[in-house]
Amino acid sequence: MEVFISEWLNLLLRWAHLVVGVGWIGTSFYFIALDLALRKREQMTPGVQGTAWLVHGGGFYHVEKYMVAPDNLPPDLKWYQWEAYLTWVTGFALLVVQFYWNAEAYLIDPSVMDLTPVQAIAISVVSLAAGWFIYDGICRSPLGRNTTALAVCLFVLIVLSAIAYTQIYSGRGALIHVGALVGTFMAVNVFGVIIPNQKKVTAALIAGETPDPEMGRIAKQRSLHNNYLTLPVLLMMVSNHYPLLTNHPHAWLLVALVLVMGAMVRHFINRHDAGDPMASFAWTLPAGGVALLAALVLTAPSGSLSTGPAVADEVALTITQTHCAACHGASPSHEAFDEAPKGIVLETTADLRRYAPLVLAQSVHTDAMPLGNETGMTDEDRARLGAWLNAQD
Ligand code: HEC
Repeated sequence: MEVFISEWLNLLLRWAHLVVGVGWIGTSFYFIALDLALRKREQMTPGVQGTAWLVHGGGFYHVEKYMVAPDNLPPDLKWYQWEAYLTWVTGFALLVVQFYWNAEAYLIDPSVMDLTPVQAIAISVVSLAAGWFIYDGICRSPLGRNTTALAVCLFVLIVLSAIAYTQIYSGRGALIHVGALVGTFMAVNVFGVIIPNQKKVTAALIAGETPDPEMGRIAKQRSLHNNYLTLPVLLMMVSNHYPLLTNHPHAWLLVALVLVMGAMVRHFINRHDAGDPMASFAWTLPAGGVALLAALVLTAPSGSLSTGPAVADEVALTITQTHCAACHGASPSHEAFDEAPKGIVLETTADLRRYAPLVLAQSVHTDAMPLGNETGMTDEDRARLGAWLNAQD
């Protein structure tokens, strides 16, 4: 019953998280593109900084941007904030249901650090909160006045968090925490900085006062961080399906490369939206390409793991009986599972052949499975299983 409930909660939260996340990132992309599409035109309404013409869904839109609010702000001014808040709330709830609830399976790897579930969860909560205060502190420090220095600090902070998390959690647990931390920066930027500053500016304007320009500068800076972090954070969120990332011995380096790739692609899109000449920003593509190439080289299978002397069927079956069957049996004995995860039953040699590419990816080229290496599968067993799988055709 508990498994049934956690499965449904997981599914519904994931669905909700995707929907509100798409809403948040969608509006974020839209407003950045809109901002960059603004042009000064003749005969603009007084107070308007630029206008944009857009076409979508069978209609034409003419949008005007006021830097200083118009004399009369309508009462039905639409704010964009709930998408961000709900993305964080559903994301955190999902972290609880998937990673805290089954901390031993998903979060902890005793060979990395032998934590109890309570310790693992406490580290998670404290690190997410502390990470935000460090990030916010850096932005508010004198460093925050220099956009480039701040960007470098932010990059280093995220890479350091990846190094720390990979020393504490399982591969999956580590990368989802990098994603959760960056997602927290982004959501709290909206909740704690961008929206409050915007409210103060709006209130000042309504009261006929001149708003503090510092408010706008800070909000814009946080918005810029959110803009460049969007693509990397999305990859971190799906990283759990890719053991070549999560279970890489230098996963933190891959995080650094993903940050570079994501930021380069985002910069390309931004400058393209702004209508800049391609030659002025085309350098982002080779720069991102070099990062991708480095990631490909880093993750290339070594080959040595999956070759070796011939391995008998019985040996391969004993290995999977010992290390996989508790979860991947037709009726698993592991308490966290009512049925084989993802429907992948690994009981016979035919099963193993059928799922050979997946098993190689999860248990031979990486140590993603058994989950959290609960059964303590050794490199020798992985090599033997790999040799057996590679001998089948
Ligand atoms: C402690 C339980 C547990 C053990 C032991 C375990 N697995 Fe898994 N396995 C899981 C879970 C849970 C998933 C689903 C993960 C997810 O949701 O992404 C999974 C998924 C998989 C997948 C599918 C991955 C994908 O998404 O394509 C493969 C292949 C796999 N396991 C192979 C193995 C092999 C081989 C072993 C033994 C060497 C093993 N597992 C041992 C729990 C386990």
